[in-house]
Amino acid sequence: MRFDVLTVIPEAVSPYLGASILGRAAQDGVITAEVVDLRPYGEGKHRQLDDSPYGGGSGMVMKPGPLVSAIEDAAAKTPEGGRRLVLITSPGGRAFSRAWAHEIAATVDHLVLVCGRYEGIDARVDAYVDGAVSIGDYVLTGGEPAAIAVVDAVARLLPGALGNADSTREESFEPSSTGETLLEYPHYTRPRAFRGAEVPPVLLSGDHAKIAAWRLARARARTRRDRPDLLETLDLPPEEE
Ligand code: 6GU
Repeated sequence: MRFDVLTVIPEAVSPYLGASILGRAAQDGVITAEVVDLRPYGEGKHRQLDDSPYGGGSGMVMKPGPLVSAIEDAAAKTPEGGRRLVLITSPGGRAFSRAWAHEIAATVDHLVLVCGRYEGIDARVDAYVDGAVSIGDYVLTGGEPAAIAVVDAVARLLPGALGNADSTREESFEPSSTGETLLEYPHYTRPRAFRGAEVPPVLLSGDHAKIAAWRLARARARTRRDRPDLLETLDLPPEEE
């Protein structure tokens, strides 16, 4: 799958996409990720990308011309016959989710992400994109962390992106074997005792059924504490209720 991230600060995006698991996925040919600097698309001697808002107000607005040109250049890189999705990052966009990440991974060959900056993007750019994506109900100074999050969440779902194919199955927000959406159970590794805190004995018991039951109970307890909204539709047995 191909990713193009359009940004005014490519130096903030490139290192993450080139490092660790995403870097290896690129080396292995599972993904192609290009970070496109928007500055050369700017207008005039100063390669201007933003201007003050019509109607007044604070902050600057990203000009439509440079963005649309950059989007068109990125679109030309869609593989022959490939399906393209072009998204703007915006705190006002559609909420990103596990389900959306799976949908993109399964149906899109080329994802183009335009990182919004300043107060926003000229609304006429909307006609040249498929939608807007937000990664949560808070405001970032720019869409770059959001674009990185979307690329990461989608890329790790692609076949061959992770070393261990099982590791996308048993994790937070993936339905458990009981069909529930739960946060992950707690993990432990060596040493057995760390500053007086022992690893729960059940994990050393070798009883895989008991371990699975313990992990499910811990996942439910964590979910009840930190994300009770995920449990709303759940029918818990009376002893766990
Ligand atoms: Cl996609 N962009 C910005 N600027 N802020 C955000 C966001 C995106 N998602 C949450 N906050």
